[in-house]
Amino acid sequence: MKKIAFLTSGGDAPGMNAAIRSIVKTCLHFDLIPYAIYDGFQGMIEGRGKVMSENDVENCIQLGGTIIGTARSKEFMTSAGREKAIEFLKSEAIDGLIVIGGDGTFAGAMLLGIEMNIPIIGIPGTIDNDIKGTDYTIGFDTALNTVVTSIDKIRDTASSHHRVFLVEVMGKDAGSLAIDSALCSGTETVLIPEETTDLQKLITQIQHNINLKKATIVIIAEGDDAGNSTVILEKLKPYFPDTSIRQTILGHIQRGGSPSAKDRLLATTMGNFAVNAINAGETNKMVASLNSQIALQDLSEIGKSFSEFNDKLRLLSEFE
Ligand code: F6P
Repeated sequence: MKKIAFLTSGGDAPGMNAAIRSIVKTCLHFDLIPYAIYDGFQGMIEGRGKVMSENDVENCIQLGGTIIGTARSKEFMTSAGREKAIEFLKSEAIDGLIVIGGDGTFAGAMLLGIEMNIPIIGIPGTIDNDIKGTDYTIGFDTALNTVVTSIDKIRDTASSHHRVFLVEVMGKDAGSLAIDSALCSGTETVLIPEETTDLQKLITQIQHNINLKKATIVIIAEGDDAGNSTVILEKLKPYFPDTSIRQTILGHIQRGGSPSAKDRLLATTMGNFAVNAINAGETNKMVASLNSQIALQDLSEIGKSFSEFNDKLRLLSEFE
């Protein structure tokens, strides 16, 4: 019987558990042994894992986070760290590996694939939706809904007080959450890392909004080139001495919570696809969602996607 190991790595994302459940159930269906490695590549280095049974994934499809833990392992990026990890995989007689995470996770998996002859399949899981080669990553939809619900609430109080609110969302170098939440929450002013922020234009937009509207919301991706919401607030204050500007940093709330139906569906489909791919002898591939179809992409071509937001930005500017 083939033994298939899997792990979650990098920032957790809602839906990772649905993917884990799907991997375990698909393995058991095909008489493969599902083997969970705890806490990402760090757990692989430290030799921590276990054979999973049906019971281990009972009642987890609806849970946020990851039941097998995650980490951002610096040690795995060293060859000494990877040597220990490879020893562990050999000692456990692992025949294939599925990694769930973002671009950092895939970079780690690629390094492992160079040093060890083992089939590897990636599943994109990150709230950032910034992986090249896939339209969606597991966790993005849930995080987007969390952001939109939060902004709806902020708008209630902002309208009542005629206030300006700067709302900071996650995305240290990705604007997907910021742009999509702007479109979904009726917010036209959005700052993203992929675009150079024009402070003068921002000031004019805010002034225009103050004159016309009850509430002014500005969505700022944490990695915007002009700074995060704290830095931008300080830059704006001198221009609006008589205006009450408030700041909300949504922070890690965006990463938690029960996954949306869309994320559960994506994760379940991708987990099943990954096991089938590895069982069919595929290696160095990422499971992707492309034009609503699940497909395989070459892992070597995966990196960060610096998405083209032009259409969405045009739409937002037409609503300004
Ligand atoms: O990669 C997902 C993400 O949530 C980013 O949006 C964010 O910048 C980062 O992780 C935060 O990482 P940490 O939880 O390590 O602070």
